[in-house]
Amino acid sequence: MDIFPLACLFDLDGVLVDTAKYHYLAWKLLAKELGFHFSEEDNERLKGVSRMASLEILLEVGGIDHLGEKEKVALANKKNGWYVESILKMTPDEVLPGVIEFLLEVKGAGVKMAIGSASKNTSTILERVGIGHFFDTVIDGNRVSQAKPDPEVFLTGAKELGVLPNKCLVFEDAAAGIEAAVNAGMKSVGIGNPSILNRATIVISGFQGFTWNKIQSLIS
Ligand code: BG6
Ligand code: MG
Repeated sequence: MDIFPLACLFDLDGVLVDTAKYHYLAWKLLAKELGFHFSEEDNERLKGVSRMASLEILLEVGGIDHLGEKEKVALANKKNGWYVESILKMTPDEVLPGVIEFLLEVKGAGVKMAIGSASKNTSTILERVGIGHFFDTVIDGNRVSQAKPDPEVFLTGAKELGVLPNKCLVFEDAAAGIEAAVNAGMKSVGIGNPSILNRATIVISGFQGFTWNKIQSLIS
């Protein structure tokens, strides 16, 4: 029998935990220091995007185009300092609804699991919310050179799990992440808005109410 999937690759921010609000607080503070307002709508553009690419978007929103590389790195570091202050206070309560139950089921089914995230703070978050033990490997922003929509993060995950890309299923909340799954030759479950995640194999609003069997039947 053709068993699918043999591995699940999970994005972290917005899929397993709601960290977007902490990213937003920190970027908003940076924008305030730079003298402009950064709206929640602007923040949507940063989902799934690497730290430096996020800064470029923020500077574009603020109409700031005269900064050199050194100044940009200093600003990104400043933002990250504020962000880390927030995530160090995270607790296991901040794992999104239905996630623990779902991970337990997938693990119980003998399916391998990996994290595929752009964040360089992945290990801090996993540790704070206590879900690191579920994953056979963690591919994060410190381990890849190409950001999503490049498939590197998911292809590296598949390789480390010893599973062919076409036997992997990706869970993602960002359009760039779904694109990365498509580019990796993997099916995907979008978490969020179907009109934004229109290239996903299926889209759900969250894990609550979704059993592993249900997801498997929907994607096959
Ligand atoms: C992604 C988030 O998971 O990680 C982005 O969706 C964030 O918003 C990116 O910019 C990089 O995160 P970090 O923690 O390395 O700044
Ligand atoms: Mg995400």
